[in-house]
Amino acid sequence: MSKILVIDDDNSIRETLELYLTEEGYRVKTAATGTEGLNAYNQDTPDVVILDIRLPDIDGFGILEELREEDENVKVIMITAHHDMESTIKAMKEGAFDYIHKPVDVNELDIAIKKALDALEMEHKIKGLVESTRDYKVGDIIGEGPRMREIFKTIGVVSQSRTPVLIQGESGTGKELIAKVIHNNTAADEPYIPINCSAIVETLLESEIFGHEKGSFTGAVNRKPGKFELARYGTVFLDEISEMSLNLQAKLLRVLQEKEFERVGGKDRIKVNARIIAATNKDLRAMIREGLFRDDLYYRLNIVTINIPPLRERREDLKPLIDYLLAKINLDLHKRIVGVSDEMFKIFEQYGWPGNIRELENLLVRASVVAKGQVL
Ligand SMILES: Nc1ncnc2c1ncn2[C@@H]1O[C@H](COP(=O)(O)OP(=O)(O)OP(=O)(O)O)[C@@H](O)[C@H]1O
Ligand SMILES: [Mg+2]
Repeated sequence: MSKILVIDDDNSIRETLELYLTEEGYRVKTAATGTEGLNAYNQDTPDVVILDIRLPDIDGFGILEELREEDENVKVIMITAHHDMESTIKAMKEGAFDYIHKPVDVNELDIAIKKALDALEMEHKIKGLVESTRDYKVGDIIGEGPRMREIFKTIGVVSQSRTPVLIQGESGTGKELIAKVIHNNTAADEPYIPINCSAIVETLLESEIFGHEKGSFTGAVNRKPGKFELARYGTVFLDEISEMSLNLQAKLLRVLQEKEFERVGGKDRIKVNARIIAATNKDLRAMIREGLFRDDLYYRLNIVTINIPPLRERREDLKPLIDYLLAKINLDLHKRIVGVSDEMFKIFEQYGWPGNIRELENLLVRASVVAKGQVL
């Protein structure tokens, strides 16, 4: 339940709003003075503050300033007098989220509150997404051979730009890990938004990516921003790009060419600022020959390609990977495994690792869980 704080010295406005907003399903608190309002805010932070400008003690602008010091993104809707355009403009300049004129029209207020809550939700989402990649650093990519060194170099180069990157590699070779590291090196403060192209049906995927307008299809009850919008100046990670339908491939191509798109059912042109990283474990060239992947899209995505070699072609990484993964596992499981036996290592060296590093990681986890001693 969203929480709303109403700060207004006018009894009748407070009572009316409390009644109306409670009926609308909000949890409402009211305050008659600025000091009371600030106390109420600090005791239980509301999602939205409705704030009158003229108050007996501190004026609304003073309160707005204090609230913005607490939380820069606080959602304050100011109540301004009808003819007082000057204070309306001032309110917006000083960081109010919106304003409504007196006498308060509850419908207008309702819309303003919904907008504020939408914005809040979007900010929360983005925050969650940003934090989730914070931990990925170049140092977390283990690789010692010449082919991995080449990849580190490429990561360095693409982190200076915003060109699309195509990452190819078998399952479990670290495609997503590399995408996150590139993102963190390029735009760590911006959202990283993964989209799995194989996980959803085509029509939904389209609205996931581009967003949709209210009523654009059955079930589209609200306008919804797409992932390209949510990503802002960050990264859209298109995982398993090979699974994207030819129809959507055409739309994605247009985005890459024009750097703009429209929401499903919408007319507004929205600018794309996000960088696109695509990943696949399929041979896209072979798919092009079979008519399953557009060659023009391939060349747009393929400006920089990172081909991650499978583990069996870089056995020099086996030992450092085991050390790295065991250190992680020891932390997670509170274990003190020091390594694998020579015997086991010999088997590892012979093995083909079809699931690559993920397979190695899973195997080490399982072995560690049941391990009695310090050597697997
Ligand atoms: N070079 C590496 N160094 C350390 N850990 C790695 C490396 N490559 C992959 N990993 C780890 O292996 C696991 C699998 O990696 P990731 O999910 O990035 O693979 P993927 O190529 O996206 O796989 P899939 O094709 O199955 O989606 C992750 O836990 C990742 O952190
Ligand atoms: Mg993956």
